[in-house]
Amino acid sequence: MSSVVTPEFTRGLPKAELHLHIEGTLEPELKLKLAKRNHVDIGQTTIADVQKTYNYHDLASFLAVYYPAMNVLQTEEDFYDLAWDYLTKAAANNVRHVELFFDPQAHTSRGIPFEVVLNGLYQATVDARALNVDAHLIMCFLRDFSKESARKTLQEGLKYRDKIIGIGLDSDEHNNPPLKFARQFEEAASAGLHITTHCDIDQKDSIEHIRQALEIMEVERLDHGTNIVEDPDLVELAAKRKIGLTSCPLSNSFVSPEMKGQEVIELLNAGVKVSINSDDPAYFKGYISDNYYALAQKYDLTKDQIVQLAKNSFETSWISQRQKQLYLDEIDHFVTANA
Ligand code: ADE
Ligand code: ZN
Repeated sequence: MSSVVTPEFTRGLPKAELHLHIEGTLEPELKLKLAKRNHVDIGQTTIADVQKTYNYHDLASFLAVYYPAMNVLQTEEDFYDLAWDYLTKAAANNVRHVELFFDPQAHTSRGIPFEVVLNGLYQATVDARALNVDAHLIMCFLRDFSKESARKTLQEGLKYRDKIIGIGLDSDEHNNPPLKFARQFEEAASAGLHITTHCDIDQKDSIEHIRQALEIMEVERLDHGTNIVEDPDLVELAAKRKIGLTSCPLSNSFVSPEMKGQEVIELLNAGVKVSINSDDPAYFKGYISDNYYALAQKYDLTKDQIVQLAKNSFETSWISQRQKQLYLDEIDHFVTANA
């Protein structure tokens, strides 16, 4: 097999996307279209104006641009359009399976009913079956909101239990440890939902948060989580438990000086199931295949390493063993055909 990784190879490779915020797929074009449709003044009227606001250097400065933009999302149709636009791009990137995040509190807190958000997103995931994309919803709690707000959000979410695959935790990690939401996570897990949490890169308490998530809350995946390399015992635990780590290279390069590729390589070598994802592609200049390709270029990854990352994405997804095997076979066929 030629070891050269090309953009065509990363695009065609069958993959799962496990770390994707649907609100982070809001492209400037759609933002402006929805602003007009809903008569929302966002203070920008051209794509260049919108792009000029995209100045961030860390998680907090990114979130300060990210949340206000959501004001354009008002109706079920808006949420449908947002998800549909992403899902067509996922299909073009040969994403065969996606477990996507949504942030209900970012919408309910500004008066949008929970069911408007859920129904719009869910209908798009149903329609995406015709695109050959198997899409599921992960409901995230905003960790900088209160426990009480998370409790209410979980109650709402549980009314739609069959439309949600799991629970996540995102937003500003500073002084907001995973343990703050231990009870809500336990209740969600008892209801049969999968659980994952962001452990963003280079946070004040990164290692302590990773330790809480793995040892106490027993999450199945860590979103980002690559600071784990600083603690060999936790790396060993993650490998043993087959914990999925969902790394997002282009996102990392915006909120830190690096894509964290050395960490990804180290984790691959340690047998940890790390995968590559796009996080907020409309804001970080690249969808999932761009992330694979950028990482391969920057760190000289081989095709074998890229293929292992794609296999890890299916292996740590929340699907049956039978489905995993079918997708892994699909990868093997693709690799043979593109040797
Ligand atoms: N919300 C959207 N993207 C996020 C990220 N990378 N970390 C935390 N919260 C987010
Ligand atoms: Zn994220």
